[in-house]
Amino acid sequence: MVHNIKIAPSILSGDFGRLADEAHRIEQAGADYVHVDIMDGHFVPNLTLGPKALSAINKATNLFLDVHIMIYNPFDYVERFVEAGADRLTFHFEATEDVEGTLEYIHKCHIEAGLAFCPETSVEFVFPFLKKCDLVLLMTVHPGFGGQLFIPEVVEKVRLVRKFCDRNNICGKVNGSAIFNIEVDGGINEETARLCVEAGANVLVTGTYLFNEVEEMSVGIEKLRFRS
Ligand code: DX5
Ligand code: ZN
Repeated sequence: MVHNIKIAPSILSGDFGRLADEAHRIEQAGADYVHVDIMDGHFVPNLTLGPKALSAINKATNLFLDVHIMIYNPFDYVERFVEAGADRLTFHFEATEDVEGTLEYIHKCHIEAGLAFCPETSVEFVFPFLKKCDLVLLMTVHPGFGGQLFIPEVVEKVRLVRKFCDRNNICGKVNGSAIFNIEVDGGINEETARLCVEAGANVLVTGTYLFNEVEEMSVGIEKLRFRS
């Protein structure tokens, strides 16, 4: 079981008419990051926010902005999201032919770089990039929408990536933590989070659970930290 879990509420489940308030609420509830989902209507069928909205969220909170971009050709958008306040930009392995160049460019902009993988993408594709990014996001639903059911097969992928990190001494420079960041996103609640954390995930994204299922966001966040 991994300790020092980071909680990243997904603002996608918040009220889009009050994004600044929602960002503030996430901060007040004791989260570590605000997770912002950017969708282009091509890589995924849904459309969400752009840099202007991200900038508004950035003004409303001091929290670290964990920005997940589900768009083709992410390289072309890096600068705009960096300028809008992203602290980490995570793009999809499946969305570009230039994974390495995009990771390098994000680092050149002095923010963290994350690499996301769809549930059906083989774990073999993850290993070569572990030393080149700050975080790996293993999607536990098909990207595109909040409120979907967790895909349990991804838990094994988490376990394999954590094992690979341990065996090869791959650790994270992020947040001074000695552990490499493995993030899971989609269908995360208390039960599925436990499976992922036991397998080695240390960053949990959750929208529906924290915005619609728990009575108090702060209580939900605390539960997901599995301190006891
Ligand atoms: C889905 C997004 C998720 C989504 C998670 O493509 O990447 O971040 O908001 O929402 P829940 O927790 O409702 O599955
Ligand atoms: Zn996401």
